[in-house]
Amino acid sequence: MPDKTIAIAADHAGFELKALLRKELEQMGMHVLDLGTDGPQSVDYPDFGRKLAETVASGAASRGVVICGTGIGMSIAVNRVPGVRAALCHDGLSARLARQHNDANVLALGARLIGIETAKDCLREFIGTPFDGGRHAQRVAKLR
Ligand code: RB5
Repeated sequence: MPDKTIAIAADHAGFELKALLRKELEQMGMHVLDLGTDGPQSVDYPDFGRKLAETVASGAASRGVVICGTGIGMSIAVNRVPGVRAALCHDGLSARLARQHNDANVLALGARLIGIETAKDCLREFIGTPFDGGRHAQRVAKLR
């Protein structure tokens, strides 16, 4: 399990899924930093992605979850901030491998592309799976 503070952010396409995943994280005993957005009013995902990426890169949160319609815009946005390794995942296996092989510290999800149970599955794997280290550690180091 990571340090208990997890940041979460979404745009207007992802705010409903964000609320569900926030509850899920709290049920896992995590302390959640919810960085918005909180309603259907149209916003720009880079604004929320940047806020979340800086929160994770600064260490104020150990990991983050970002959600937009496809997850693509958010993953592009957060990966621009040094120190962030975001993985766009569509199933539990990709989320587990993102932790085991890539030490991903941000999970990106597409609210318009995946169902709620699959999103929860991704979240559980992302939170519960440790980094494998070993041969993967030198590769992750090269990303820095
Ligand atoms: C918003 O309509 C949509 O473009 C956004 O949520 C996201 O999917 C971008 O990548």
